[in-house]
Parts: sequence; C-alpha cells; structure tokens
Amino acid sequence: MAGKTGADKIFAERLAKHHDELRWLYMELYGNADMFAELCGQMKHYYDLRKKSLKVLDAKREKKGGWYRERDMLGMMMYIDNFAGNLEGVLKKLPYLEKCNVNCIHLMPFLESPKGRSDGGYAVADFRRVRPELGTMGELAELAEKCHEKGISLCMDFVMNHTSEEHEWAVKARQGDGEYMSRYFFYADPSIPLEYEKTVPQVFPATAPGNFTYLPDIGHYVLTTFYPYQWDLNYRNPRVFNEMMYNFLYLANQGMDIIRIDAVPYIWKELGTDCRNRKQVHTIVRMMRMIGEIVCPGIVLLGEVVMEPEKVAPYFGTVEKPECHMLYNVTTMAATWHTVATGDVRLLRKQMDIVCSLPKEYTFLNYLRCHDDIGWGLDYGALSEWGMKEVPHKKYLNDYFRGRTEGSVSRGELYNEDPVTGDARFCGTTASMCGVESAGFEQDDAKMDLAVKKDLMLHAYMFTQSGIPMLYSGDEIGQVNDYSYKDDPDKAPDSRYIHRGRFCWDLVERIRDKKSVQGRIFSGLDALEKIREREAVFQADAQVYTRDYSDRSILWIVRRVQGEELHAVFNFSGKEKTVWMPEKAVYTNLVTGGVRETEAAELSGWDFLWMKRA
Ligand code: GLC
Repeated sequence: MAGKTGADKIFAERLAKHHDELRWLYMELYGNADMFAELCGQMKHYYDLRKKSLKVLDAKREKKGGWYRERDMLGMMMYIDNFAGNLEGVLKKLPYLEKCNVNCIHLMPFLESPKGRSDGGYAVADFRRVRPELGTMGELAELAEKCHEKGISLCMDFVMNHTSEEHEWAVKARQGDGEYMSRYFFYADPSIPLEYEKTVPQVFPATAPGNFTYLPDIGHYVLTTFYPYQWDLNYRNPRVFNEMMYNFLYLANQGMDIIRIDAVPYIWKELGTDCRNRKQVHTIVRMMRMIGEIVCPGIVLLGEVVMEPEKVAPYFGTVEKPECHMLYNVTTMAATWHTVATGDVRLLRKQMDIVCSLPKEYTFLNYLRCHDDIGWGLDYGALSEWGMKEVPHKKYLNDYFRGRTEGSVSRGELYNEDPVTGDARFCGTTASMCGVESAGFEQDDAKMDLAVKKDLMLHAYMFTQSGIPMLYSGDEIGQVNDYSYKDDPDKAPDSRYIHRGRFCWDLVERIRDKKSVQGRIFSGLDALEKIREREAVFQADAQVYTRDYSDRSILWIVRRVQGEELHAVFNFSGKEKTVWMPEKAVYTNLVTGGVRETEAAELSGWDFLWMKRA
C-alpha cells in the first residue's frame, strides 16, 4: 500500500509540474476539456502499468539528466530480419553488438505492416503487434529487459504521421464509418485535393506522385503524403491525438528507451501551405514531451526532421520548454558527402559552426548513412556564392557518387529522380560510397587502402562531433551495396533497398584477420570508439569550434574541456599534406599513442589526426 501511495505521489508531482502548460496547449488546439480529462486518466493508467524496473530506471535517469549524452554512447541501427532473422535472433547476437561497443540499438520498424505495401515497415497496421515473423510484443519486452541488464538501450520508430490502409481505423473509414473517416482526410470531390496540390510538395515524386489517392470503392480521395497505402492521420481530431499518445505510452512501456518520431514535420495539415513544420506540430511535440516526462521520464524523443537547417533546430524547442531530446544531424551528414565529392570543406565548416553555436543541451544524432536516401538539402545560398549552383551541383553530386565523374570511386544509385525538375537523391552504403566496392571489383589493393582510409576518416569525423554517433549495421564490416533487391518486385522500384541488404555474417568471420578489409575497418572503428569513450575531450559539454585553416581540403575541429584540447584534423583530399599546429607544443597522437613536441604533422590522403594537447 505504502508503495502504491508513493508511486501515486510521484505521478501526481510529475503531473502537477506540467499540468497547466499541458492543459493550456491542449485546450488551445482542441478546446475539449473532456478529452483532456481522458488523456490525464490514461496517463495514470499507463503509469500504473509501467514495470517497476522501468520506473527505477526513470527515476535514475531523471536524477542524472541527459543520460543519452554520455561520450560512451554508440548506436547502431538495423533491420531485425536482415541482422538476425527475428527478435530472438537479435537477443542471441547481443554479444556481437557488445563486441562492436554498441550500447544503443535502433530496431528498424517491426510492427505489423502489410507485406509488399509496407514502405519498409513505415506503414503500420497495428501499433500493438509485432510482425509475426519477427516475434511478439512479449519478446520485444524481454529483449529490452536483457539489453538493460547489459546497459544497452533500445530505440524504435513511432510512425505517427500516417497508418497503413490496413489499420483498423482505415478499414472502418473505408467502410464509410464517419467517426473513422474523421481520423483521416477524406474528400468526396477533387476540388480540395487540387487546392492542396497547388502548395504541397511531393515526397516521392517518382515512386508515388501526388499527395492524394482516389478510392473508387467509396468514391473518395484520401490524403496520402507518402505512399498511397499510407493514409495521413488528422491531428485536428483530438481522438487521433489521444489514441496515438496511448500507443506511444504502450510502446514506451515495453521498455523502449528512445522513441523515434517518424516524419514529424508533416503531422499538421493546412490548406494553402506546404503542410510542413506548422506551429501546431511544435505544440503536439511539446505535449508529447510533457506526457513522456509525466509517465516515463527515462525515455528520449528522437525527432526525424529531414528538413533544411533552419527548420531542424526549432524541434529542440527552447531550453525551458523543450520538445525533442535529440534530432538527426541531417544537414551535417549531407554536407559531409558533399565535401567528399568536392574536396572543399567550406560548407561543412559553416555547418559545423552553426551546430556548435547551439545550446549544448541540444543533442544531435550523428550518422554517415541510414536506411534512407541522401537528399542534397544543402545551403545553396552559400554554395552559389562559391560558384556551385543548386541544379548543376546536385547533378554533379549524383554523378560523382554513381562513379561517373573523373576520379570518383563511389558506387550507388539515384532515388526518386523527378522527371519534371531533374532532381534526384542518392542511395548507397558508406563503404560503397568510399570506394570499397569498386576497389574490390577491380582487385586493386592501393585503391582499397584509400577506400578503407576514407571510410575510417569519415567515421572519425562523425565521432569527433558532439552527440550520439549512430552506425548503420554492416558499416562496421564495410558492407557494400546489395543489388539483389532488383529481383524482388516489391522492392525493385525503391532503390533505398540497395543499402538495406542482409547482414553478411560470413564477413564477420574475417574481422580477426587484421589485413582483411573487414578486419581493418572493424578494428579501426573499435580503436576510435574506445578513444572516444576514454578521453574527456569527447564529453558533450566540451567547447567545440572549427579552426580557420589555409587549405580548403583540410577540416580542423578543436574540442576543449578541463584544460585539455583536441585538434581533430581531416584531409578531404587524396594528397599528402603537412599541417601546421597552432603552436609548437607537446601533442599526443591519440590513435598511435605517440607523444612528441611538434609544430607540424604529416597527413596522408583521406587521413585524419586526433592530436591531444594537455
Ligand atoms: C521516414 C522514414 C522513411 C519513410 C517515411 C514515411 O522518412 O525514414 O523511410 O519512407 O518516413 O514513413
């Protein structure tokens, strides 16, 4: 009894802390006090259902604050089936992930989703059921528990913008049930859809043109921003918001540590606008943050905001009224590959300066590659001043990464080439983009050496940034593009599957051979990860800035903390360079362990230095 009263008190205190603001925002958006009361009741319900062990973890994390910002954090994202067949398989493979130094696993979408109409699992038919071939909800909760015992956290997607057309709500809506139709956007005649089309851009111009889908069986148009089988939810309806929050809490209660809110900028629609990043989206995310802090404060909201730079940071909210805990560092990722293709670090430096000037509480998830394409969302204002105009530059990047320009070693494919604008995005694995695939094909050892170096240098650059580095499963063994998706009619139209191949366990066998590509990449990453974990300069509260250096292909980052200083220097060219330290001093090369007094250092092509000055 005492325990229950204590728990009630904790809940009451957390609710009291946020109640007024939450109510204010809810009433402003929905003006429905009954539905707000229901939401509060359900928050208590999910709090009561939350396992004791998770509540203990919540309390610990609440007290500590920013648990996800530790410098030893290392994530890996993976498809359950590609990596280990099913959830049970993932459980068995935890020792391998520990060997990779990974302590945060992002399991790509695994909820019930119709085969062949799933958008890689991003068309959810049931938010409370795991796809049967992958396992059960019970197994997910068990995996979370086993991970927690090992200090590993789990991340999953919460696809909140839309449901699958096979979701119970969609099925009922399609039968003409008005209550359910109001959870989506239905129109009996084309006039409003046509109005929307005037201002709403297209996400998949080639694979799913248009933003609406006509349903002949009921004679209605339904809003489908992504694929025709992904129906956009109508968050103007408080029933949608409430129910989706209950789904969110249900999933959090399975032991998830990080909830990735998929495609969040899209969740509020308004005629006459581009239907992206509306202010109501921020209201909803802020409410979600408070709901999380009341029921399950240990969890982290990771926002998927793949937008131009000025649209991204607002999703952190403010330090006083935070929204997402963490966001993808998407612009830095795209700018990194731009730098590989141009050998010109100016844009990347500018981007780093912007990120470094943000409050240190803002945490980014850094990555080189993920399951999606690379959209070339770069700062074209700056680029055009340097002579790189948007349309030809995108074309250059796409040509370069397909290996079609002089000197390029990259391999990969275009994605969603827009027949009207000629715009296209790009797909390929890190290793293929660095030249591992082409060097392997040509059996050219010298090229392979460079490719491995480039791959490690880019990872070192990712580890140098503050935030959580997230590896893409397979990158730790230099896995190259997988062209087999072309044989599967469901996948063939979507070139993102080129980098969503099955994990090659036979390549893992080779990591013990230190001369093999796999061995060099795996042990190279291992060394970097251990340095990052050990050295204080990688702490999240370090002061980070770039150094103006006379050579355009050299990116120089300084990290300072507690009297220590790291000089991280990256050579984005194939040429050997002598780099000049700011002054003659004693530096420790963190990678080789060498300590010496020096004012200059040698840097081979596509190599990097981590020099610490004490
Ligand atoms: C996100 C996912 C992407 C998916 C889209 C629609 O952008 O990362 O893979 O296609 O959302 O859910």
